[in-house]
Amino acid sequence: MELSAVVTGAARGIGREVVEQLSAAGYRVVAVDLSPEVNDLAKAGAVVPLVADVTAPGTPAAAIGRAIDEFGRLDLLVNNAARFLRRPVLETTDDDFDALFATNVRPAFRFARAALPHLAETRGSIVNTASISGLVGIANQSVYAMTKGAVVQLTRQLAVEWAGRGVRVNAVAPGAVDTGFMDEARAADPDPAASLAVTLANHPIGRMSAPGEVARAIVFLAAPESAGITGTILSVDGGYVAR
Ligand SMILES: NC(=O)c1ccc[n+]([C@@H]2O[C@H](COP(=O)([O-])OP(=O)(O)OC[C@H]3O[C@@H](n4cnc5c(N)ncnc54)[C@H](O)[C@@H]3O)[C@@H](O)[C@H]2O)c1
Repeated sequence: MELSAVVTGAARGIGREVVEQLSAAGYRVVAVDLSPEVNDLAKAGAVVPLVADVTAPGTPAAAIGRAIDEFGRLDLLVNNAARFLRRPVLETTDDDFDALFATNVRPAFRFARAALPHLAETRGSIVNTASISGLVGIANQSVYAMTKGAVVQLTRQLAVEWAGRGVRVNAVAPGAVDTGFMDEARAADPDPAASLAVTLANHPIGRMSAPGEVARAIVFLAAPESAGITGTILSVDGGYVAR
């Protein structure tokens, strides 16, 4: 039996690693991203790339429908696509607020709504990519952090509501990960090297996580080995929130 998954934010970074690890584990995957780079993932019919904006109202049903059409079942949804914003509160506009919630929160809810009936049939699961920013306060990340707090709570809500129907829902909460995600924000700093040094100093292991390390935690949360785990927010943060 071949398992099937939908992964958002799949073109690069953590999402790309998730697709590669799932493929290696025998999953067939619909890989969703805004960027046409997601097309690079297509190989031997096991990965179906879908270039789409997760904020578009029709994307969740289209992506889940594609998995059902192509693979006949859905075992896993990974809500991973997101945008970062580092901005002091007083400089953060209503448009920033709306855009971040529209990208980081509402699609995850819509994808879950589209996926849950299918996941109930396979006793499948959802894994959301949250963040340490959704667990603790981090200066200048107000709206981004609020979106990740919402992802944490979405995870718990869905876990409790759907446990009786056999669907598990968990999240990972990465600390700094070595992807392009925060590079742009850091590049805009007056002293990017000093900013990176502060980030590293805040992680007891003294380094960023590799995207593959976060992906491994996501794949674990989807696997039968974690059958007893639901509603959990698994930190992959080099000790950040343990300080
Ligand atoms: N990198 C970090 O330090 C870090 C830390 C904590 C949490 N996270 C979380 O990890 C997840 C993945 O981040 P990453 O570091 O791999 O980032 P990344 O920027 O490398 O990848 C994110 C992907 O999401 C896609 N994406 C963004 N908006 C989209 C949209 N509207 N529709 C479709 N695709 C869209 C991008 O095109 C990109 O391919 C995000 O949820 C992020 O919040 C990252």
